[in-house]
Amino acid sequence: MSALTPVLGDRSLFPHLQVPYYANFAAISPPSLPVEQAALAQIRDVASRGAGSFGTWIGARRTLKDQLASLVGAHGDDIGLCPNTTMGVAAIAFGLDLQPGDRILCVQGEFPANVLPWQQAAQRFGATVDFLPAPEPFASTRAWLEHCTHFLPCKILAISAVRFDTGWRAPLAELADLCHRHGAQLAVDAVQAVGIVPLDVTALGIDYLACGSHKWLMGPEGSGFLYVRPGLAEHMHKTLAGWLSVPDPADFLMRGPGWLRYDKPVRDRADFVEGANVAAASCAGLAASVTILQQIGVPSIYTHVQQWHDALEPYLLHWGFTSLRPTEVDRRSGILACRPPQGIDVVALQARLGELGVSCSIPNGNLRFSAHWPSPLAEVTGLADRLEQALSDLRRAT
Ligand SMILES: Cc1ncc(COP(=O)(O)O)c(C=O)c1O
Repeated sequence: MSALTPVLGDRSLFPHLQVPYYANFAAISPPSLPVEQAALAQIRDVASRGAGSFGTWIGARRTLKDQLASLVGAHGDDIGLCPNTTMGVAAIAFGLDLQPGDRILCVQGEFPANVLPWQQAAQRFGATVDFLPAPEPFASTRAWLEHCTHFLPCKILAISAVRFDTGWRAPLAELADLCHRHGAQLAVDAVQAVGIVPLDVTALGIDYLACGSHKWLMGPEGSGFLYVRPGLAEHMHKTLAGWLSVPDPADFLMRGPGWLRYDKPVRDRADFVEGANVAAASCAGLAASVTILQQIGVPSIYTHVQQWHDALEPYLLHWGFTSLRPTEVDRRSGILACRPPQGIDVVALQARLGELGVSCSIPNGNLRFSAHWPSPLAEVTGLADRLEQALSDLRRAT
């Protein structure tokens, strides 16, 4: 086995990671050595060849799109690279043929990246944004879905595949079916899902999906992708198109005089979003991290992370935390969120945990742990010891 072979539960590919207990992959994934090396190699190539490297990295986009497509059950032609989730959501929101009076459905309590672009587009075109109630991790999915039907019809429903604050995984197949039966479309913010939760856009019937690179995909920040279901891109307004969004866009730079034109049609494909230079080093790193995810396999990663959660959750319950892990197994994800025991301030708890070597987050006031494939199962006991220590330190201080 090579020194760079990824192994579940083994942090050897993260030699620069100094945090002893890293449970924060839902926030930012530290790049693994192969990711660092791939990003650096791209920069080194530009450093040595300058403009001569342009063709190589434009070509690499196609390979990355094919990789991302195979990760989500799509075809590479239906993927476009974009800088982050938000820009992918914006491309969808401003791409729809929104008319005055159209209704967009968002979901209460979602991460703002999946609300702000919808509000902006609604404001621009005279549409309205309404909110579905936030799904409760312990409530029945069937009951929530039933409740959602009262909000339809709408033009489009925008939801996160996995909630950033509770880790609740949305029933995407059911939502797509519900939307389509009411003449609506389904747009998914998948940044908390792709790379950890098996997700097949074709089987699920998703219309649009946006995802950034730096969480579960484990790439560097600054890249991501947009998926558009076949047949939909031709109906989108290509509001975010740019000079590289047309066929043979660089002819005027390579073929001599007479090739400069402004009348070329923008591509009727998801890659219309690739309108300009992208963060090529980030894309190179992302390609390396997706290769690793494919080597290990997302279903195996998911199982590993559930084992990590299975090990930590009993400690949380024992010390009086309220676990927000959904009771329905299909609603679980890479996130294990909880609420601290009464009298414990979550901000102070996260800060104390940080001092004790544990990195985790507190989105919307929940304490959130998120392990990924390199997270050792054996670390859970040590992490739990630090959690107990942090609790007792805080109690002593009050
Ligand atoms: C559900 C969700 N969507 C979007 C984002 C932001 O993604 P980006 O910075 O790639 O736009 C986050 C970040 O935490 C998130 O949790």
